[in-house]
Amino acid sequence: MRVRDLRAEDARAYRALSTGAFGGREPAESPRPFNPAETAIGIDSSSLPGGVDGVIAAGARIRHDRIAVGGGVAACGGIGGLAVHPAHRGNGLFGPLLTAVIARCQGEGMAFSMLYPSNPALYRRYGYQEVARETEVQVPLGDLQRLRPVGDRRLVPVTERTMPRLRALYRELTCEDNGMLLREGPLFPEGVPGDGWSALLLEDVDGRDHGYISWTRAADHTSEEGLEVHEILGRTREDLTALLRSLGSWSTVTSTARLRLRTEDPVLNVLPSGRLRPAPDMPGIVMMRVIDTAAALEARPAPDGLEGAILLTVEDLTVPEGTCRAAGSWKVRAAGGRITADPLPQSSADPAAGPSSGTEGLVGVVRLDIHAASLLLTGGRTVADARRLGLGADADPAAGRFLDALLAGPRPSVLDAF
Ligand SMILES: CC(C)(COP(=O)(O)OP(=O)(O)OC[C@H]1O[C@@H](n2cnc3c(N)ncnc32)[C@H](O)[C@@H]1OP(=O)(O)O)[C@@H](O)C(=O)NCCC(=O)NCCS
Repeated sequence: MRVRDLRAEDARAYRALSTGAFGGREPAESPRPFNPAETAIGIDSSSLPGGVDGVIAAGARIRHDRIAVGGGVAACGGIGGLAVHPAHRGNGLFGPLLTAVIARCQGEGMAFSMLYPSNPALYRRYGYQEVARETEVQVPLGDLQRLRPVGDRRLVPVTERTMPRLRALYRELTCEDNGMLLREGPLFPEGVPGDGWSALLLEDVDGRDHGYISWTRAADHTSEEGLEVHEILGRTREDLTALLRSLGSWSTVTSTARLRLRTEDPVLNVLPSGRLRPAPDMPGIVMMRVIDTAAALEARPAPDGLEGAILLTVEDLTVPEGTCRAAGSWKVRAAGGRITADPLPQSSADPAAGPSSGTEGLVGVVRLDIHAASLLLTGGRTVADARRLGLGADADPAAGRFLDALLAGPRPSVLDAF
């Protein structure tokens, strides 16, 4: 079964497949073209029993995103619009399609792949691991009035002119995170997002930016939950306090805001209320998969002062050998603020085979299956976390501690838009 790249002339057939699966309508005369920062792949219906020309039997899009990884940047294929035509479902197309997606991510030089699954179990089998959940809370606005004013800060409207300041601040304040998209063009076009999106920047008297809040006002002005707050980012607790106070100013027109959070978001620590409620909808799950282990490791800086090396082996039985570069053995070294991952021949990955060249001076050995590798290499988790989840993670104690230190940082978060 051949999976091929979809071209501009396939956009109509692909959109018919994806709107057929996920809803929505495309204008019949001019369907949206593929975004230049996406690769679309698919399987022709005509290549399958009972298939017809001009129909895509299965397809998916791969966004060329970049993500923050603990102070570094890694290329990440964001998978969207993966669907099988109803005429061809239940015939085993999912596996070959997803395997081709993984291979294509490797072909594009990506270190990771990311997706928002509707059925996580389907993706887990192919090495994707749940790394984050989108969390939202309902914030009673009346409580924010109790926050004290913060001196030396003022609010600035966000317009086309000030939007670049917000973008720069977003990059600066999320660069140490794990998983956050860099939100670059053309996937994230320049300018103010539109559709009622609003924001305020927080600056000091010298005009230096310290934070921002972005939101959309509910179209229904009688709604109790009148504000959808997309994010509140600030340098310090004081900055977050100033932004929350500004949010409290809406309490005269609506009682509650829905606030989207990063994992363990510092804003939770500043909110005065114990009366937060989780927002009622099911939180979205974010899954990631390692595509290229060495690229994933080398993308991040080594923590200050961490020196040493381990032997890391990753086993990937979820896709045929050679689909991507997740599996293998590497000497992973931290030195001078850099991480290097040098491939080792399979024999040197087997401690029973005795010492071999390139493995001298190691702290120890870590063996991960692809599921554990996908969890850990995204950052912010530990070998013990992987074991608690029942994933395959064996480590000499010292080597496990080394890997944990190497990949330390906040637990991953992904917020997919401004
Ligand atoms: C989900 C979808 C992509 C599966 O594609 P498919 O070609 O029908 O799946 P396959 O025949 O290859 O089956 C793969 C496995 O998934 C399971 N599966 C398929 N559809 C499923 C469903 N709706 N719920 C649970 N499991 C399902 C199959 O039982 C099979 O498991 P098995 O190997 O143990 O038998 C397809 O049904 C579809 O396009 N659905 C609508 C869009 C969608 O949900 N896309 C995924 C968004 S995350």
